[in-house]
Amino acid sequence: MIRLDKVSYQIETSAGAVQVLRDIDLELPDGSISAIVGPNGSGKTTLARLVSGLLRPTSGNVHLLSNDDIHTAKDVRPGVDVGLVFQNPDNQLVATTVEDDIAFGLENLQLSHAEMVRRVEDVLRLLGLQLFRDYPPHRLSGGQKQKVAIAGVLAMKPSFLILDEATSLLDPTNRREVMQTVLRLNNELGIGIVIVTHLLDEVLVASRVGVLADGVLAAWDSPRAIFSNPAVVKQGDLVLPLSARASFLMQEHWTDFPLCLTPEEFARATCQLT
Ligand SMILES: Nc1ncnc2c1ncn2[C@@H]1O[C@H](COP(=O)(O)OP(=O)(O)O)[C@@H](O)[C@H]1O
Ligand SMILES: [Mg+2]
Repeated sequence: MIRLDKVSYQIETSAGAVQVLRDIDLELPDGSISAIVGPNGSGKTTLARLVSGLLRPTSGNVHLLSNDDIHTAKDVRPGVDVGLVFQNPDNQLVATTVEDDIAFGLENLQLSHAEMVRRVEDVLRLLGLQLFRDYPPHRLSGGQKQKVAIAGVLAMKPSFLILDEATSLLDPTNRREVMQTVLRLNNELGIGIVIVTHLLDEVLVASRVGVLADGVLAAWDSPRAIFSNPAVVKQGDLVLPLSARASFLMQEHWTDFPLCLTPEEFARATCQLT
């Protein structure tokens, strides 16, 4: 698991020191799905970079703890332990073919040529990208590009994958496809997932959701607990999924109407009204 102990991050600017994150405590168990939400500028990307080892905290610790030996705390190696996928795939794709792009991140790992070829083949198959191996990445759709970016990250065999608003530039079909791919990776390979998003429909698959507000972790709980806490919803400036908002409207007339997180739940609850 990855554990954050009292993690703070501060930057020095010409106008003085800015505290971006303050005293964050967090545990991300191996194979879990978590989400981070919060308004623009609340510190989500900074937190993603700290968890992935790309940034070091100003104070506090980010550690990788192994299940076998819970007492050995290691630093997170960016890419190798935690892969990070960003919002805009165009900024992540560097090579002239899909295959070369996926291999690019492997160059620094000192792998044998045979192992590199094997890893590229494995992720091409895993993500259904075999047909596109010789394509120039810029010719692909947004969803396909984001899958290539995910493939490049996965080829390094990280135990966690962080998606920083990775679907926010995609249309609904591509967004669904990328999300389904990520869930399959979790399910089949046991990769731990952290979804950083402002789309609350995407956090329903998470067992824990962190709400960042002004660099502070205002809550760390299940989606249902987060959505039913008006103070947290206000602090995180969260726009709840439509089914949740409709549930609260129903509760004005039917006080025991349940909080529904999906249209299916809402339909079931509505059919049971007498
Ligand atoms: N390198 C930096 N220089 C100046 N300000 C920064 C830097 N990194 C982050 N910040 C500030 O920290 C805050 C949090 O940024 P960020 O982590 O990108 O938030 P989010 O991803 O939630 O929008 C913002 O106010 C941002 O302006
Ligand atoms: Mg961000």
